[in-house]
Amino acid sequence: MPNISDELFKDFRDDHIVLGRGFGKISECLRAGDLEGAKEAAGAVDRDAGAHIAFEERAFYPKLAAFLGEEDIARLYDEHKTGLAVIMALISMRPEERPDRQTILSLIAGSETMEQHIAECGELFHALERLSEDERVELLQHLRHWRAIEPSWHGLQGSDEGVFQRDLEQ
Ligand SMILES: [Fe+2]
Repeated sequence: MPNISDELFKDFRDDHIVLGRGFGKISECLRAGDLEGAKEAAGAVDRDAGAHIAFEERAFYPKLAAFLGEEDIARLYDEHKTGLAVIMALISMRPEERPDRQTILSLIAGSETMEQHIAECGELFHALERLSEDERVELLQHLRHWRAIEPSWHGLQGSDEGVFQRDLEQ
């Protein structure tokens, strides 16, 4: 049977690669003035990142609270909000819409914040080494659960932990 920690590390790392590439693509397209490309990349991130974001916000970050300060944890959640705001702005943009330069610059800044966040988040994963095997099994269960549901990132808004817990117990 594959080692739990190895599986968890691998899944987590794979998610980060996908997410990092997604925001990298968004930043790149925005810098090049390719709005269509940026919107397409944002749609892909919205679809692909939901499970990972749910896992982090509802299972992984609460565990990190044992090792990190409250401010650091709050910053991680805030950065996700920044990332989601970029995604929402792009996917809700009408085809003929031409945002002004200031809007584009702030979208680029938000996307770069997420790129930075993703790079850092991968490092935070080493905190996992300090968790017990039982806690890692629990985390892997959470990650798998969300991957099976495949929520969109924006679709996570308003879905609560209670529903998630019930789902997990079934
Ligand atoms: Fe994160």
